[in-house]
Amino acid sequence: MKWKPEISPYDGMEFAMIFQNIPVLDGNEKKYVVDCLDTNWISSMGSYIGAFEQAFAGYCGCAHGVACSNGTAAIHLALEALGIGFGDEVIVPDYTLVADSNMVILAGAKPVFVDVDKDTWCIDPDAVEKAITPRTKAIIAVHMYGHPCDMDRLMEIAKRHSLLLIEDAAQAHGTEYKGRKAGSFGDAACFSFYATKTLTTGEGGLVLTNDPDIAERLRIMRSHGFEGEGRTYVHRVMGFNYRLTNLQAAIGLAQTERIDEKVAKKRDIAARYRERFEGCPNITMQVEMPWAVSSYWNFMIVLEEGFGATRDQVIAHLAEKKIQCRLPFNSLHRQPVYTDGNDPRYPDTSGDYPVTDKLSLNGISLPSGLSLTEREIDTVAEAVLEMRR
Ligand SMILES: Cc1ncc(COP(=O)(O)O)c(C=O)c1O
Repeated sequence: MKWKPEISPYDGMEFAMIFQNIPVLDGNEKKYVVDCLDTNWISSMGSYIGAFEQAFAGYCGCAHGVACSNGTAAIHLALEALGIGFGDEVIVPDYTLVADSNMVILAGAKPVFVDVDKDTWCIDPDAVEKAITPRTKAIIAVHMYGHPCDMDRLMEIAKRHSLLLIEDAAQAHGTEYKGRKAGSFGDAACFSFYATKTLTTGEGGLVLTNDPDIAERLRIMRSHGFEGEGRTYVHRVMGFNYRLTNLQAAIGLAQTERIDEKVAKKRDIAARYRERFEGCPNITMQVEMPWAVSSYWNFMIVLEEGFGATRDQVIAHLAEKKIQCRLPFNSLHRQPVYTDGNDPRYPDTSGDYPVTDKLSLNGISLPSGLSLTEREIDTVAEAVLEMRR
């Protein structure tokens, strides 16, 4: 494995904390941010916004990129720009961040949950097909932990039923499906640039699309429905303030410049964890399909029956060793906000989603950040394996 450079600020410290994920800003970030400060372009106008949008869209092979304030805003903007609203159903995987279903509800539509595939942990195309009704308007395909969804199958289903396809690529910077970058398949694709993501702007988001009209709607809706350069204060569509600042875009541009290196490092981290856990019968890992190049944003293991310790015992053991882990997502159909809430906008939560439940109950997200060293990975793996009975 090539690890260049060994950039962990914690390397060599006795019992220093091994964090689950922290940002690494080791390129032109500071230079570009100082440029914003020196030139006074600190808000949502300035040259870094367009430069970041173009660099990231170009990298993904997409015609248009529209930066916005975070990944959640990106999902909401995409739904609104695609005209999804009252009376529509949107198919959402049960295993994802609650942002997906919340934004569908905010747009006025109803989320319909489906289970995920047992190997890839991404939305199950068979389950999607079964969930389609005359009200279905769109599918949200979440590329879980950087592994792509089965896009050929989803695109075929979407085409056959005249549905819109939105990629939630919040975790999938640099992910590839059959040689094409994640984010270049859907009617729109949404990215997050939160601090722990493979590429970060602190907080930030971006929507990709190949459709110039959708791109225009995204831009207008991103900023209160303002059209064109001059502000006439005449609003033809409802909009929001989901703008990204030039300062954030400056960081995003610097991060994009080094995306290949970051994705390679993520893949190295995953490869080393795999080596350590391979052949361990009671630990399951996400399967990387032959058609996929996962960007491995987050490395999660699932403890199977017979492991010998519960998930909570393992997390407690790791915490004692100053190793920070993260819990998996909780099944959306079990979220108290939906199950206990008495609101007609909320989704039906009565279905069964066994794969999601298993991931939610037995998953542990191990340290996966770009600053991890080989030695830290070995320490984490050893600590997990110590708990086997
Ligand atoms: C799958 C998924 N969708 C959406 C989001 C929302 O992104 P943000 O935190 O930037 O709003 C995240 C963030 O972690 C995510 O993991």
